[in-house]
Amino acid sequence: MLQSMRIIGGSRLTGEIEISGAKNLALPALVTTLLTDQKITLKNVPDLADIRSLLDLLEHIGTDVNYIDKHTIELSTSFIKSVEAPYDFVRKMRASILVLGPLTTRFNRALVSLPGGCAIGSRGVDLHIRALELMGANISIENGYIKTNVNGNLVGCDITFSIATVTGTENVLMAAVLAQGTTRIINAAMEPEIVAFCDLLNKMGANISGAGTSIITIEGVEQLHGTEFEIIPDRIEAGTYAVAAAVTGGKLLLRNCQYNHLTSFFETLTRAGITCDKTETGVTVYRTGQDIAPIDIQTAPYPGFPTDLQAQYTVLMSICNGSASITENIFENRFMHIPELSRMGADIAIHGKTAVVTGVKKLTGAQVMATDLRASVSLVIAGLIAEGETIVNRLYHIDRGYEDIEKKLNSCGANVERFSV
Ligand code: EPU
Repeated sequence: MLQSMRIIGGSRLTGEIEISGAKNLALPALVTTLLTDQKITLKNVPDLADIRSLLDLLEHIGTDVNYIDKHTIELSTSFIKSVEAPYDFVRKMRASILVLGPLTTRFNRALVSLPGGCAIGSRGVDLHIRALELMGANISIENGYIKTNVNGNLVGCDITFSIATVTGTENVLMAAVLAQGTTRIINAAMEPEIVAFCDLLNKMGANISGAGTSIITIEGVEQLHGTEFEIIPDRIEAGTYAVAAAVTGGKLLLRNCQYNHLTSFFETLTRAGITCDKTETGVTVYRTGQDIAPIDIQTAPYPGFPTDLQAQYTVLMSICNGSASITENIFENRFMHIPELSRMGADIAIHGKTAVVTGVKKLTGAQVMATDLRASVSLVIAGLIAEGETIVNRLYHIDRGYEDIEKKLNSCGANVERFSV
């Protein structure tokens, strides 16, 4: 049954929100089980639909999954039943592509469905494929599947990415840790999730240096071993609630949030007139004056302004004092929230990859829906400030990436409720 969320606008959010573990680290971290026959224990794994989808895929491959508690998972993959990631798994969640590198390097073959288009753009995986080919994998595309096989071992080499791809960097890292010799990833992604991911692989016995810079060097090792690892806080979840505090004129302590993982975002909010104070336990966010200043942004790979916070930031600018331009440089189709925000009274014009947002005095409630995670959550935030009732349909998008969202919002004074339709 489909679920929707009813939001009655007008409450100021005040209090504390505990930030969950980072989805975009937990996903590749789960996949590291494919690199060793020993046990991997992950703590602070967020309880999300995307995590469950990936666990289903790992179980299909042959992983033994054991929940110790809601956020602690033990995984063991001593042998595999299948090297296949079928279409139905990959279609549901693109991050399934992450099994390509580890299956190819440890089991010498993989059969992974091509993800195809997704709501936010075409999102190719050509860079993942090309990198594995450079390392010596034979790769063909057959019946919509990527088929890899390797004679002997993958061999380390220099891989220069034309785009600093996040999951592409993770796939190559996993392939290279068990490859023969040295691999260098040039123009590697530099996100905090990549740095933490390399920490995890190094704890498993890998030899990786340079994480967090644009060149990562991996010396291949014979084998990896089990370990225990804690997932870092989700900076995108934190940024989302920061916007919720700012738009409602409330004050929230984002517990566990690491300011330095979101510096460009918090600096932008600060310029817009929002106070973002780093504290011992997290970051406190509140609006200091009446007005929100219009501040232009452009999304960029880390350390730039994150594409995953662009939709939420658009809501903030929709009630700013002037006009701001928002340019989306990472994905070609990530403005799906805009027609819906316009239906709520926002004044936004799209010119190619730039949206010009002119602040309005108020938004009004409406029935809305969006087709990706971040666009959907931006509509919830808009609902928090809209006059009257907003219904956000197709909540499953939000459940892919926000743990206990209505509980977290209501504990700070929001009036939101989930219902089935
Ligand atoms: N690209 C290619 N070819 C490739 C790989 C990427 O053309 O082989 C393009 C993509 O189409 C896109 C750009 O490069 O235009 C950057 O994509 P990237 O590969 O970095 O994205 P991703 O790894 O698929 C991750 C996150 C996304 C986040 C992006 C950008 C995970 C599981 N997903 O995706 O998260 O938006 O990086 O930061 O880590 C989300 O959480 O809502 C989300 C979409």
